[in-house]
Parts: sequence; structure tokens; C-alpha cells
Amino acid sequence: MSKSFLKKALSGFRPYVPGEQPPDGEGWVKLNTNESPLPPSPKVIEAIRAAADESLRLYPSPTAAPARQAIARHFGLDPAQVAVGNGGDELIEMCFRAFAGAGDRVAFPTPTYPLLEPVCLMHEAIPAPFPTDEGWSWSSPLVDDPAPLKFLVNPNSPTGTLHNRLTVERAAARSRGVVVLDEAYVDFAPQSQLDLLARCRNLLIIRTMSKSYALAGMRIGFALGDPELVAALDTVKDSYNVDRLAIVAACAAIEDDRHHRMIVDHVVAERAWLESRLSEVGFEHSPSAANFVFVKPPQPASAAALADALRERRILVRHYDREPIAGWFRITVGTRDQHEKLLNALREIL
Ligand SMILES: Cc1ncc(COP(=O)(O)O)c(C=O)c1O
Repeated sequence: MSKSFLKKALSGFRPYVPGEQPPDGEGWVKLNTNESPLPPSPKVIEAIRAAADESLRLYPSPTAAPARQAIARHFGLDPAQVAVGNGGDELIEMCFRAFAGAGDRVAFPTPTYPLLEPVCLMHEAIPAPFPTDEGWSWSSPLVDDPAPLKFLVNPNSPTGTLHNRLTVERAAARSRGVVVLDEAYVDFAPQSQLDLLARCRNLLIIRTMSKSYALAGMRIGFALGDPELVAALDTVKDSYNVDRLAIVAACAAIEDDRHHRMIVDHVVAERAWLESRLSEVGFEHSPSAANFVFVKPPQPASAAALADALRERRILVRHYDREPIAGWFRITVGTRDQHEKLLNALREIL
């Protein structure tokens, strides 16, 4: 689209660019977008098949009520504490609609999820990025900042860093507005901050079914928080933001704990294996509590050149070329077979 059609506030705008999504079935080793290496629960597939009938002519529940109820039950919450969205990304966007207007400051650490800044600009809010301290930890000025909206990703992407609960609690206590804790990757970490919801009424936790439930293709996320925060999200949401098949998939996925646990256990075990094998090939790694590893190759080779060489071998990973993470790679935890292919390719290239 010609730039001239864009509103003035977006002149020079650089949109968020998702990782490459090659056509299915072409033999790519896809380790660039943190999808699950294992398939979704067979019960989810069955539920979607059963729901793909003539009822699709009808709109879905505007509040995705069955999914809210199932998710609330799973976490021991009230359905009024649960919002459901078209992926975690939609819930992030809804937070801007609900909590930050034009001219409002939105605080977040950097490096973190690169979607935040473009969404800020779309809403004409003012991004307030705070560089992280040593070990990618959140800085005190960020934690103490009273911005009307603050985003914290825990474990963080792309660094994989797990931040402690005291810091999260302090960030909620010091903020004058809403603190969004994006726990997209928390199922792969030793601990979540879910119980803080009982103490921090301005804390909203966002989760996704794209990672530990293997449902990236269905686009399901949910937010957990005080009924007032959830009601605010409901006020600004699109009428039917979650479709019928996504609602049944969400219900079936949240109820199949065994399958979920199997995915998480696989990822956690393979993450350790991959980190140790990569360090044998000379990679430095930053401890990751997510479904990816965050690593730096041995030579100060150009990250882009290494990523290109892997891509020529049909292996996709995410690389970074801007400070403070220039030269680092985020590699999704895959299957053992995918890891062997990656390691063989790296030995060849390096
Ligand atoms: C930090 C973070 N938050 C949220 C999301 C959104 O996930 P989805 O929109 O697939 O639910 C992602 C996706 O990769 C992510 O990395």
C-alpha cells in the first residue's frame, strides 16, 4: 500500500515483522518462531473435527464463554477473571485500547518482545523503553516507573531470562496504572506469578496456547486478572474475536493436562540437551526458562551471514543484529532430529 494512505502519525513507521513462515511440508527445520515441536492433543483435533459442522453458520459466543469457563476452572479462578483473545497478540493490543491513549507513556524493558513498540505507535502512545541491566535484569527505573501501562515479559523473549517474583510485585506496587505480565513462555519455567493476582489488582497476566499447547495455528490467548481489568478488556474487544473452532480447541486443550505436561517435559529436557551441545560447538548461552535457547556463536561472525548459511540448508532460526543483542541467536527448542540437523549444519559452517 502506498505510504500516502497511512495516517500521519504512522509516517516512517516500521511494523513488527513476524518470523518467516515457509509453506508447510517442504522439509524446513523451523526453529524461528517458538512453535511447539510436538503436535496438539489428539483430543483437540477430535473436538475441532466434531465442531466443524453446520453450526459454523452461526456466530460464536461473543465472550468465548465456554473457553472462559474451562480456563477459569483450570486455574481455580472465576470466569469474570478470564478474557480470551485471538492469540496473546490480540490481548496485548486490547490492553492498549483499554489502558493507554494517545500521549500516554507505555513502559517496557529492552530487549523484549518487539511487537510492543509498533503497537504503541499505532495507538499514538509514547514508548518508554528501559535498557536492561547486567544479566538482562529489569532496571530499577523501569520497575519503579509509574507509567499508566507497563509490559513485562516473563520469561523474557528473546533472552529467555526468568525474573523473580519480588521484582514483579514491586513493579505492580509502584505503577499507577496497569502492569501486564506476559507469561507466554511460563509453562517452561519453574514458576509463574499467578498467585500475585490475589494481591495486585492492577496486574494482568497474559498467556498463549501457541507454545505449550501446540496451538499456534488456532490463535488462542487468554488474560487473567481482576474482574475490573477483564471488564475493561471486554469493553474494547471486537464483537466475536474468538471463532467457534478456537473456542472448542481451547476447552479441549486446557482439559488435557497430560498432553500439555508431555509437551512441556519434552521441551525442558531438549532445551538442556541443546544448550549443552551448542556449548560443545563453542556457543555461549544465556540461561533460558522458555521454549527456546538464547545463544551466541564462537566467532564474532556476522549473525546475518550465519543465519543465511543455515537458511540455505533449510534451517530457520532467529538472529539479531542490533545492540545490545547483536550477534545473538534465538533458537526454538525442537525435536532431537531437528537439533541433530542444526548441529551438523553448524559444525559444517563454523
Ligand atoms: C512474548 C510473547 N508474547 C506473546 C506472544 C503471542 O503469542 P500468540 O499471539 O501466538 O498467542 C508471543 C509470540 O511469540 C511472544 O513471544
